[in-house]
Amino acid sequence: MKTHNIAIIRGDGIGHPVVDAAWEVLQAVAKPSGFALTGTELPWSCAHYKETGVMMPADGIDSLRKYDAILLGAVGWPAEVPDAVSLHGLLLPIRKAFDQYANVRPHRLLPGVEGPLRRGGFDILCIRENTEGEYAGAGGRIHQGTPQEVAVETGIFTRMGVERILRFAFAQARARRGKLASVTKSNAQKYSMVFWDEITRQLAAEHPDVEVTSYHVDAMAARMVTAPESLDVVVASNLFGDILTDLGAAIQGGLGFAASANLNPDRKAPSMFEPVHGSAPDIAHLGIANPIAAIWSGAMMLEHLGEKAAADRVMAALGDTTGRGIGTVPGKDRTDAITAAVLSALS
Ligand code: NAD
Ligand code: IPM
Ligand code: MN
Repeated sequence: MKTHNIAIIRGDGIGHPVVDAAWEVLQAVAKPSGFALTGTELPWSCAHYKETGVMMPADGIDSLRKYDAILLGAVGWPAEVPDAVSLHGLLLPIRKAFDQYANVRPHRLLPGVEGPLRRGGFDILCIRENTEGEYAGAGGRIHQGTPQEVAVETGIFTRMGVERILRFAFAQARARRGKLASVTKSNAQKYSMVFWDEITRQLAAEHPDVEVTSYHVDAMAARMVTAPESLDVVVASNLFGDILTDLGAAIQGGLGFAASANLNPDRKAPSMFEPVHGSAPDIAHLGIANPIAAIWSGAMMLEHLGEKAAADRVMAALGDTTGRGIGTVPGKDRTDAITAAVLSALS
């Protein structure tokens, strides 16, 4: 039987219960689908930082390289460890070191989920650049603590980085409804975003079958609320993609529904699958975290591993669960009850 070896990083807060739920569902679908999953749990987290002084060991990245994929919950416990320390010590280095440059985030309503717009009919695939841009970590502060203090955070956009994410997005648009929305802020950011728009135009010429429209990010934010059904594939830089995908999560019913895949499309290193949401400290010990985003991310992992039939079964079980009104409204059903409903829909 084929075995996929998965590194499991639950991380912090609700990362634990939602990954446990996803793992249970993945295990339940594996055997009847003719493959096995082995999981190696890595305790890397803010708790680990408090114990050891590091978010992950010095050879952490190297030790992840041997896995077929990484399943992650959420990283961050800001009351005890500054976010800039925890995220730059674990999540962001994995995305960058493994060249997981395509962060793929689907936004659509599961059956029975109403969402705040009170209308469905949208099916958006956000593609977020995931390794450079505004997250490059380039910058500094001088004259710290004085009235003359200056802080600089430089967005780094390379031709290689912009071109590869746009090519990935064009390919996704081709495989879907043939529409691509490219998001920038080139009216205000005259270097990086004008550069992005130029490359978009160059690639558009190579893809005459894809209808490309460039939007400014502020207008896109409004469009995602007022006319989400007009959108197919949306591609954006790291920071703009981050913000737009929490908005996408909101219109699909909340952060508890938004899944994501951090893909290394060249398959030269493991890809990582995680819900869009964070550790949710405000509800972390209440037992009400929605595990659907993590389970959906698990389905994306199965598809990436070549187990499309099993991924489809998990998505059908999620649809069955929400279609019966379970897990559709934040806080209404407990994590365990939602997970049990998904498991029973699978059997
Ligand atoms: P968050 O996503 O953790 O929470 C935002 C709001 O959404 C909260 O009210 C929370 O209760 C709710 N929520 C999130 N997921 C939910 C779920 N599955 N079910 C029900 N409700 C859910 O964002 P935040 O509060 O800005 O961040 C908390 C911590 O998580 C910070 O340390 C932040 O840096 C980190 N974070 C990590 C990731 C990640 O690891 N990928 C993503 C986002 C935030
Ligand atoms: C996400 C998160 C992360 C990001 C944070 C925690 C650094 O918000 O995965 O969307 O901005 O990429
Ligand atoms: Mn985010």
